[in-house]
Amino acid sequence: MQVLIFPDPLALAKKSADLVESQIQTYPDSVIGLATGSTPLGLYEQLISRHEESGLSFSKIRTFNLDEYVGIPSDHPQSYRTFMDENLFDRINIDKSNTQVPDGMAENPLEVGPEYEKMIETAGGIDLQILGVGTDGHIGFNEPTSSLGSVTRVKTLTQQTMADNSRFFKPDEFQPKLAITMGMKTILDARRILLLAHGENKAEAVRDMIEGPLSAFCPASALQLHQRTTILIDEAAASKLSLKDYYKFVGEMQDDLVRKHRPSDWIER
Ligand code: F6R
Repeated sequence: MQVLIFPDPLALAKKSADLVESQIQTYPDSVIGLATGSTPLGLYEQLISRHEESGLSFSKIRTFNLDEYVGIPSDHPQSYRTFMDENLFDRINIDKSNTQVPDGMAENPLEVGPEYEKMIETAGGIDLQILGVGTDGHIGFNEPTSSLGSVTRVKTLTQQTMADNSRFFKPDEFQPKLAITMGMKTILDARRILLLAHGENKAEAVRDMIEGPLSAFCPASALQLHQRTTILIDEAAASKLSLKDYYKFVGEMQDDLVRKHRPSDWIER
């Protein structure tokens, strides 16, 4: 696990965009796993600017979103499909038929997961997965106690997640209690993972993810098992880490080694 700490969310967004851009430049037909929510907005803004200003091309990129609410149509303002269209897909040159978001309105939501898994497999697996983390330690909508071996399926949201996300819904509006989410195994099977987090409200989840015991109670802690995960956080989200200075020192040593020995994307595991 590589931990990179940035002074502010903008610096974090720029570095995460550098890593995504490098993936796209090296493998223009990459399969990228995407997240919604406030966290990746800075990254998406950076990618849009790079597309507009330097022609970064998404024409062959294929994407799979982590999750979608059950029970709201894809054109609903709060659906994750709408979020992705508005905040990324409609503003870059991606072929929409290459973008997948689980179908939250399927007649039988229980059938969506196995089909989604098949689609990911047919695409050759996920090359790069973008993640945020919930205040309860969830990734995707894998809430605490999710099986660490789970695949895409329906999950019931915790009260905390519903409260966190209620800001997006009007007081009298239907707010989903269920979601279809990639599973823990689906996420851990990605070849490369970037987890982004900023703000003090994420500090506890970030601490449990990086320094806590490996536990389904904090699903993000399962990333400790992944060989190529980079955690990008700002100072506020890093504020509860006990080895914060060590991670910064590791970063300096890594920069030094990469400068001397490797041109590209080496990380200490
Ligand atoms: C979203 C997702 C969630 C969010 C998490 C953090 O697709 O899978 O795990 O990443 O809830 O949400 P924000 O970024 O809004 O704090």
